Amino acid sequence: MRLSRMVAAEDFRRAARRRLPRIFFDYIDGGASAEATLAANVADFGRYRLRPQVLRDVAVRRLDADFLGGRHALPLMLGPVGSLGLFRAGAEAASFRAARGVGIPACMSSFAITDPETLLPLAGSGGAFQLYVLKDRERTEAILDRIAACGAESLFVTVDTSVSGIRERDIRNGLRVLSRPGPRMIADFLAHPLWLADMVRVHPVRMALARDWPEAGCGYLAQAAFLAGQIDPSFDERGLAWLRSRWNGRLIVKGILTVKDARRCVDLGADGIVVSNHGGRQLDGVSSSVAALAEIGAALAGRAEILFDGGVRRGGDVVKALALGASACLLGRAYVYGAVAGGEAGVATVLATLRAEIDMTLALMGFASVDELRAAGTNALEVTTGVA
Ligand code: FNR
Repeated sequence: MRLSRMVAAEDFRRAARRRLPRIFFDYIDGGASAEATLAANVADFGRYRLRPQVLRDVAVRRLDADFLGGRHALPLMLGPVGSLGLFRAGAEAASFRAARGVGIPACMSSFAITDPETLLPLAGSGGAFQLYVLKDRERTEAILDRIAACGAESLFVTVDTSVSGIRERDIRNGLRVLSRPGPRMIADFLAHPLWLADMVRVHPVRMALARDWPEAGCGYLAQAAFLAGQIDPSFDERGLAWLRSRWNGRLIVKGILTVKDARRCVDLGADGIVVSNHGGRQLDGVSSSVAALAEIGAALAGRAEILFDGGVRRGGDVVKALALGASACLLGRAYVYGAVAGGEAGVATVLATLRAEIDMTLALMGFASVDELRAAGTNALEVTTGVA
């Protein structure tokens, strides 16, 4: 299907599935354990219904929004997604360019392939870096210095990954033995020639952060395994206080699901949080992101910046999240599928689709701007009991 005919996240998802070997599609698409939280992230948006008002002048509409200390064209940003460059050559830079093209920020992942020196300047204003605090604090500090020098304005510290979630699809598909592929995996690679040609062209792929770490090995897979093993499972409140003292820019804590944790982060000096369960990839069985947002938004709106991710696939999802107290949504899989399907043009098409849906939803709800919607808050919604 041509990009111009793709109108919903599911279209991009199908296109990504066709282009990628199964092992990579499942890595993106899948979640932890029984994938209950993964499914709930999408399904629970159905618990909130839009409450429209008619006879309102919506002839002139504005979708720009304040978050991360700036005014951005849409209440959206690209969230951090590791390994993106393994799914399509140049997909990280392409995604950052597409975000800049529509005037929204993007966040680089610790697991990115592209150097921060290349990627972060592409972000325009509002460039952000996602950090995993490492056992080696000197190395963590070196990362902070490096990304500050590249112009990162905001640091997103991810705190829901003290250990990795168990992703059954990845184990079944043999992700751990990717560097020694068997005949089935090789056949799968050969059956996806566009992806294969891309990877041959960019071989060897390396992880940006590991450039100066000789013991991380060479090659992306070894380096990513090394980095995952370096994430500090003892990172706690004292660690966050240390990070606050060490980072002068905006500090956002990503991976918060309860009011209590949100308050602790703010009390320790964080400027904001991302209500997130890592897209259902970490602890399965926790509440959906949108259900957590409803509680956190009610308790904390106005006290700290509340960003949101998890299950955002449509403009209506974004509108619901903003009504529940988020200042903006981070996109995850929604833009990754676009990047895989069509590079920069693919992400631009995803963003244009979301923009059109947000615009239409606001207009039909009787709001002339994102600011009006946010001021109305939960009055713009009706909560149903149970799932829709
Ligand atoms: C992620 N996510 C993620 N988060 C993070 O803090 N650092 C990372 O390196 C990654 N890597 C990553 C890879 C892939 C393939 C996916 C799908 C996700 C989580 C991401 O930032 C975000 O929280 C979720 O993707 C949001 O859920 P949806 O929108 O994908 O449902």
